[in-house]
Amino acid sequence: MKNRLIVLPVIWGVLIFSNISGPNSIFAQSAMTNVSARHCTSLDGKWEVIIDPTGAGDWRQVWQERKPEKKTDFIEYSFEGGPLLNVPGDFNSQMTELKYFEGTVWYKKIFNYNLNKSRRLFIHFGAINCISNVYLNGNLLGKHEGGFTPFQFEITNAVQKGGNTIVVRVNNQRLKDGIPGLGYDWFNYGGITRDVNLIETDNTYISDYFIQLKKHSSSEVLGWVKVTGAHFQQNVEIMIPELNVHYKTKSNIEGLAEVKFSSRFELWSPENPRLYKIIVQCETDTVIDNIGFRSIEAKGSKILLNGKPVFLKGINVHEENPLRAARAFSESDALILLTWAKELGCNMVRLAHYPHNEYMIRLAEKMGIMVWDEIPVYQQIEFSVPAVTDKMDLMMREMVSRDKNRCGVIVWSLSNETSSSSARDNALINLTDKCRHLDSTRLITSVINDQNYKNNNVSVWDTLYRHFDIISLNEYLGWYVPWQGRPGDVKWNLVCNDRPVVISEFGGEALYGSNYGPKDEAASWSEEYQEQIYKDQIEMLKTVPNLSGICPWLLVDYRSSGRMHPVYQNGWNRKGLISDRGDKKKAWYILKAYYESVKNNY
Ligand code: GCU
Repeated sequence: MKNRLIVLPVIWGVLIFSNISGPNSIFAQSAMTNVSARHCTSLDGKWEVIIDPTGAGDWRQVWQERKPEKKTDFIEYSFEGGPLLNVPGDFNSQMTELKYFEGTVWYKKIFNYNLNKSRRLFIHFGAINCISNVYLNGNLLGKHEGGFTPFQFEITNAVQKGGNTIVVRVNNQRLKDGIPGLGYDWFNYGGITRDVNLIETDNTYISDYFIQLKKHSSSEVLGWVKVTGAHFQQNVEIMIPELNVHYKTKSNIEGLAEVKFSSRFELWSPENPRLYKIIVQCETDTVIDNIGFRSIEAKGSKILLNGKPVFLKGINVHEENPLRAARAFSESDALILLTWAKELGCNMVRLAHYPHNEYMIRLAEKMGIMVWDEIPVYQQIEFSVPAVTDKMDLMMREMVSRDKNRCGVIVWSLSNETSSSSARDNALINLTDKCRHLDSTRLITSVINDQNYKNNNVSVWDTLYRHFDIISLNEYLGWYVPWQGRPGDVKWNLVCNDRPVVISEFGGEALYGSNYGPKDEAASWSEEYQEQIYKDQIEMLKTVPNLSGICPWLLVDYRSSGRMHPVYQNGWNRKGLISDRGDKKKAWYILKAYYESVKNNY
């Protein structure tokens, strides 16, 4: 059955999309919000696996786990006796024979559960990269596509008393009609890459809520609570004990309760990352969250945080722990990356190029680091294929749904470096409008790199920018694009000069400690060459009109199979300011000094 998109009425300026996947849908349900606050049973740990490079497991139906019955029977697969993999975690970094594997791996986990009557049970995946089919006790629950957003299945009526078996078919082959498509400049880590939890709820429970400041306000909260289940019309209350807020409301015939109240908040900011304990309660469920309140907006050429101009001192980060050469998935991974960003003097991280795990989002918020959240609509995308635009839509909704209550998230970014075409423009304009309907409180953009550079003049001509709150552009002057004059003499011509500009990527490669050739030649991969790029870029930044932030590419070296020079790269993109062993390169100090020189309210 097609994934039904129920467009609920426009409520308080927020058009709520809810892709209700009915009980017999083969598509996963939208994940409930704030999983970590729920009644969870973790399924993390060792899972049995079958490595299936030719896809034989499909026609052998390995999820049935058939066993020999007669003396003459034999079965040509088995989970028992096979390898074990850690979940969460990519499979490529766990077994040498899987280092570059792109194909199917079957995962199996047995769990015991006793579910009382009037209770509901769900299985929730933080993310699986990238197509997954989930089976419970030999029966298909459904499938999900997309490697970086959560999803769930309700198993209330499928879970057995006592022992149950979950089998997950994971396939990480790149797809021409995928999001991202076939080619991308990061490592294709496959597997059950984030936490897996069983979530138990009451028969009627709080499945979702949106509690943030109304656009342009510093005191009025405008949002909603979704009550799901048989008794969806209930009294609902929002409490903030520290502010003595007891806001009472009721859920309507769609289970939706309006939230609209004012209070005197200590606003969240990088200098004061204030979060409040919020209790969201209905008659049959209570969910506790830590939510911050701030306003973010683009006004003229400035980005305003809580009404004051803010300069985004950003850095790009991939979801990878370089010290393990593996997909990052844990709070300790997030702490390593965000501590590096903080030490560099950043107040923002662009989580390239896909939604990172929730530990990263929540820790950044606690550390006072703003987050640029992005979906991997990356470079070559089949925009004219309806299935592809459906996938873009679903992934955007899954990102917004998961992170909409995280005040640290200030930007929804809906694409990176796509080529101009009518199909691309229509798809991204449509997606931008839908995103703004879902959440009008944040800045929305797409990152573009098709500006022209001639006679030391940069022409930013893409008309798509007119649909975004900020102009975000990637430029690699000094690396991919040699300078055509003095960096300080660059002239700019913006397609629209009534909004803030963020340079969302610049940089160049250097191998830490490289002493292989002349320091002033790119082909030496010298730290000095990268250092000079940063010096020149900082000089050039003075020429950028409406500059409201920068986000160099990137914090730390990361794996990318297309980076093939055997001496300098060896499968790593070396644009990091920090090496894959955590060493600071010379350019790190240039950016650190620049960020120290930039006033916060510039
Ligand atoms: C592009 C792209 C990045 C890529 C970088 C590079 O701008 O957005 O994903 O890794 O350039 O070439 O290193």
